[in-house]
Amino acid sequence: MSREKIITGIDIGSTKITTVVASVSDNKVSVIGVSGNIPSKGINKGNVVDIDSSVEAISQSIEKAERMAGVSISNAFVTLNGSHIENLNSHGVVAVSPNETSEITKEDVSRVIEAAQAVSLPSTREIVHVIPRDFVVNSQEGIKDPVGMSGVRLEVETNVIHGSATAMKNIAKCVNKVAIDVDELVYAGLASAEAVLTDTEKELGTLLVDIGGGTTSVVAFLDGSPIHSAVLPIGGKLITSDLAIGLRSRLEDAEKIKIRLSNEALISKTDIHDDGEDFDVSEFDLEVERIPRIMLYKIVNARLEEIFRLIALEVTRSGLSGKLPAGVVITGGAAMTAGTEKSAKVNLKMPVRIGVPKGVTGLIDEIKGPDSSSAVGAVLYGAKLFRGSNLLSFDNKNGSIRKGASKILSKLKSLLP
Ligand SMILES: Nc1ncnc2c1ncn2[C@@H]1O[C@H](COP(=O)(O)OP(=O)(O)OP(=O)(O)O)[C@@H](O)[C@H]1O
Ligand SMILES: [Mg+2]
Repeated sequence: MSREKIITGIDIGSTKITTVVASVSDNKVSVIGVSGNIPSKGINKGNVVDIDSSVEAISQSIEKAERMAGVSISNAFVTLNGSHIENLNSHGVVAVSPNETSEITKEDVSRVIEAAQAVSLPSTREIVHVIPRDFVVNSQEGIKDPVGMSGVRLEVETNVIHGSATAMKNIAKCVNKVAIDVDELVYAGLASAEAVLTDTEKELGTLLVDIGGGTTSVVAFLDGSPIHSAVLPIGGKLITSDLAIGLRSRLEDAEKIKIRLSNEALISKTDIHDDGEDFDVSEFDLEVERIPRIMLYKIVNARLEEIFRLIALEVTRSGLSGKLPAGVVITGGAAMTAGTEKSAKVNLKMPVRIGVPKGVTGLIDEIKGPDSSSAVGAVLYGAKLFRGSNLLSFDNKNGSIRKGASKILSKLKSLLP
């Protein structure tokens, strides 16, 4: 019999909160409630800076999604973002417990991942994800799922994503304040990757870049799983503020001008749309009524170039240059900025595509754009866990996220490449 469960994802972004409620079965994720476009207050560059304002925005977003879905939400997968997010690759080794068949069991796998998790992190840091990349059984490498194999020595290579314990507690606290339990905090970049990347891209080697309002979250995939993650404290808001300075306009007007410029380029199906005509800004209270388009593009492009150069630096720093043949997939709201694709190609010197969320059906009109990737990804992440094993509910009422062997076991199946 087909199982079914309601799974909710909440993306707490620097510009907006998005809630996606879906009915998940073994072969389908059907969206039944959505609320995007609730401006986030109290979130800066991915971090909670004002609890009350954040709680108010989260509460509005949840209420709207609940009304649409006709269900009451009690728990959710919640995204975590911010430049406090870091990662390391860790190795674990255990002796396989002796049993009649000398086969590796789920418990052995759970123990080896626990062993890999024993990294020395300062008390200010907490582990967000422990992702098994590769198992080694009796020195044989490249094993994706060792359960049932014979062996005496089991090793694992993992990618551990960790973050500031305070930042994590604050996000959990805001969500708990609206009477929602956090199933799990999910790194926003990883959530976007779930929604946007294909299995082939993950396998070949690709870089997922989510450019939001206040952050740019990066995850590199190689051989099917994440190998490097980083969050840069830059995003679309900087493009808007550059335009506001250049045009001596209000931020709100600069934002409207940026979006109109980008939409024009999108409609004309060119990366930038310059027909030689000036851009009409008469509806805004500026010193001029018309501006040469090229001037707007120059301002936007300077910032895009900076963003992609910093990403290129991150790729080099992590030793991944030349190892990501499937190129770069750009998502997040700012991926819609005119000139993004071209600037990414020029500065990263890799193949580039703009990624939008996939893998869900139902009421998806509001969440088709690249600005919904993290929210859709949070639900897909939850769906993977649900299909891998039963969802566990975590005791984080006090803002602490419980970790345990059982949780690792449940994650393991779902995250295996
Ligand atoms: N059509 C568009 N053209 C250009 N930029 C756009 C467009 N729509 C949204 N943006 C920009 O996308 C950014 C917001 O993206 P997104 O919604 O992904 O951010 P967020 O998730 O709230 O923030 P973060 O991920 O940084 O915490 C804003 O800077 C906004 O100006
Ligand atoms: Mg975001």
